[in-house]
Amino acid sequence: MERLRSFCRRSGLVCALGTILIGTGVGVAVAQGVWQATKVPTRTHVSTIARAPFPVERCINVAGALEAPNEGDWGYKIRERDFKTIRAAGFDTIRVPIKFSAHAMEQAPYTLDPVFMARIDEVVRWAIRNDLTIILNLCHYTELFENPDVHERRLVALWAQIATRYQKTPAKVMFEIINEPQEAFSGPRVNKVQAEVLRIIRQTNPTRTVIFAGDNWGNINGMDNLELPNDPYVVGTVHYYQPFEFTHQGASWMDDPPPAGRIWPRLGETLALQKDLAQIAAFRERIQAPVLLGEYGVGVEVPMRLRADWTRAMTSAFKEINMPACYFNFTGGFDTYDRSVEQWHAPLLEALQLRPK
Ligand code: GLC
Repeated sequence: MERLRSFCRRSGLVCALGTILIGTGVGVAVAQGVWQATKVPTRTHVSTIARAPFPVERCINVAGALEAPNEGDWGYKIRERDFKTIRAAGFDTIRVPIKFSAHAMEQAPYTLDPVFMARIDEVVRWAIRNDLTIILNLCHYTELFENPDVHERRLVALWAQIATRYQKTPAKVMFEIINEPQEAFSGPRVNKVQAEVLRIIRQTNPTRTVIFAGDNWGNINGMDNLELPNDPYVVGTVHYYQPFEFTHQGASWMDDPPPAGRIWPRLGETLALQKDLAQIAAFRERIQAPVLLGEYGVGVEVPMRLRADWTRAMTSAFKEINMPACYFNFTGGFDTYDRSVEQWHAPLLEALQLRPK
């Protein structure tokens, strides 16, 4: 299954349903047919509402800490000094992936662990104190991806609690409902559940920015399926790691990573990037809302010069289409910052068109 999952994500195929079929023993040939059949054509979406401006420009993910089963399990705990470092380099926003689902009761009322939530309060406080916008992203909810029938109501209940808890915080605190919808949590149900979560959030947070993701691991093939409610404060998001064989080559945390030694760009790949950008720009046009590039990055296994080349090209390309972007990642995987010497990797910061003060 892991192999298939990484293949799906790598190739950008619409294969969530195929994954389930194979997982349940139905043949590959059938699943391949389903992949084709489930490719959803771009819909015409008529927005009847003006969206509010989305005040995010230069953003970086602070991942690898709070989406580990317990903070520190993956070797990184967020420190306030990290936020100072990030702000001083010129970022205005951090996106923090959080595994809320690992810190809540399994049964109704699905109460979130008060100790864990006190830690999230602290991280939110540090962000505000250091003049950073903070996107709280509910991440790695694997049980939801495997069994949405059971877990969708838990997702809604988790957000009801998070929304109530942060209702008094400034607008600089933003909510992102779910990271990279995938597997059984795909198709129309992703829109339906996010709309339901938004309805609950709006009971306590009438104007909070709420970010919606498409299915297919939130990549560009998931964009066609995303529908946004008529709410001025919603934003769409997409992730970009293409070519996956390049950005994830040799990744130590994957079961079956693409082989090392892949260069970028190969012949035709600069053109492919232009095509993808046009697709993202068309998506933004269709949903008539701001779109956040929530993750783009390249793994530490790739030689630094190539990491910087890809990062530079992506950063300028997304700037050109005026799209706010969150680089992946500060430290704790896909590192841009080296904690062993407490310094940025200078070529990456240069590629991001930033400078430490
Ligand atoms: C997604 C995953 C995260 C992974 C990253 C890069 O954010 O949730 O675990 O490290 O993509 O592949």
